[in-house]
Amino acid sequence: CVLGVDLGTSSVKVSAVAKDGTIIAQEGMAFPLRQPQPGYAEQDPEDWVSATTVAIVRLILTDKLKPADIKGISYSGQMHGLVLLDKDNQVLRPAMLWNDTRSTKQREEIMAKMGQRFIKITHNQPLEGFTLPKLLWVKENEPEIFAQAHTMLLPKDYLRFRMTGKLAVDYSDATGTVMLDVEKQRWSQEILQTFEIPASLCPPLVRSIDDTGNIDDWYAEYSGLSPATRTFAGGADNACGAVGAGIDNPTKVLSSIGTSGVVLKYEPDKTTNYDGVLQYEDHAIPDAFYSMGVTLAAGYSLSWFKKTFAADEDFTSVVESAGQSTVGANGLLFAPYIVGERAPYADADIRGSFIGIDGIHQRTDFVRAVLEGIIFSFRDLMAEYEAKGSHFETVVSIGGGAKSPLWQQIQANIFNTRVVSLKNEQGPGLGAAMLAAVGLGWYRSIADCTKVFVQFKDVFLPQPANVKRYQKLHEIYKQIYPSTKEITH
Ligand code: XUL
Repeated sequence: CVLGVDLGTSSVKVSAVAKDGTIIAQEGMAFPLRQPQPGYAEQDPEDWVSATTVAIVRLILTDKLKPADIKGISYSGQMHGLVLLDKDNQVLRPAMLWNDTRSTKQREEIMAKMGQRFIKITHNQPLEGFTLPKLLWVKENEPEIFAQAHTMLLPKDYLRFRMTGKLAVDYSDATGTVMLDVEKQRWSQEILQTFEIPASLCPPLVRSIDDTGNIDDWYAEYSGLSPATRTFAGGADNACGAVGAGIDNPTKVLSSIGTSGVVLKYEPDKTTNYDGVLQYEDHAIPDAFYSMGVTLAAGYSLSWFKKTFAADEDFTSVVESAGQSTVGANGLLFAPYIVGERAPYADADIRGSFIGIDGIHQRTDFVRAVLEGIIFSFRDLMAEYEAKGSHFETVVSIGGGAKSPLWQQIQANIFNTRVVSLKNEQGPGLGAAMLAAVGLGWYRSIADCTKVFVQFKDVFLPQPANVKRYQKLHEIYKQIYPSTKEITH
């Protein structure tokens, strides 16, 4: 079997997957997130190593697999986090994570110095969440640490380094640093020079399916794994999630509802540039790319609503209660900007709204408006794609949206596209396992592996009358952002 390691922000989940895609066993382990000041989000990289090792030891203890059965390991990682090592490869400071937003000043400086040229090179805006602004924050605020920095790694690359002793970053996580020249596929000398960052900080670039060496003797001893176990580079969590959901060509688009929401498209071409309105990253599939837009409060809007207005009911019954309302929630609209927005509006200050409240409205209408409003915000992201001439045959729904038939039907109608769910939704860990399976040569390509590992389950078709109704409502929804953006400014 292979192990797919899914290194998230609050925990790690390790899945043992057989050659035919069957999940043999899974184990997880949580680790702490430190927020010493507002806007700070840090973790101790060693916590990732010990939590992953605990999960691996537990897997071995299940007796469902023996160490010698584990032929390969690959990794999915929380993106953008900055890990700095000194010349002896010791961690210099806690990792600054993707949700650490302390680097607004550095973000502005990057744009002031390079402006559109930066977006041309990286295909992204230098948002606080990404790695470069964090690195510049360290340079400015902790110069003694910056001076000792010898190597920069991303979270899963640190974990793999501790298992193998070898330093490497894969392309999909490298694009998330916004220090990669996307069209040249190498670290951008121009960016490094402009911000006086030593090129030696940037480790060698590898593909997600590349062999990154065997488990070393120390880690074999520590974990109980066999030293014959090979590792493969792995990728960013969104890239691995897309692999695990079968997003391997431009006819399918991913609609993922977690705390935040993601609309993600496979991109065959590195010259496409959304001017930073959507993120643009290297895929975990060799020579492919993906773009994505993030709705900051997707599932979070619903959990906020439940916590505030339906605290003692369970989630499923709250969601399903929306079935008692109607298409368009009896004229009630919701915009999910309750913690600001990332795309298509990069606006940390915008806030959400309910529009059209009527004395007859009941809580079921409010729930329905929340479900619909989240999908209207995804619809805005789809519109960015349509503006570039994209047309999707299928929306693959994962996360919260895939757990409810009602919510999937709402998606089919608002997107006016068929919506499918996955038979075996395992998230990014399955994508990581697929990278190891291809790396080991079990499959010739990710496409071949996808045919075996990824199967679709339910299908929801657009209902023409409801599609029309939603199109009208979306025209009104689109006016909410421009008419309310001054509220908090
Ligand atoms: C993507 C992003 C998050 C993290 C979560 O840009 O910031 O999805 O990858 O792990």
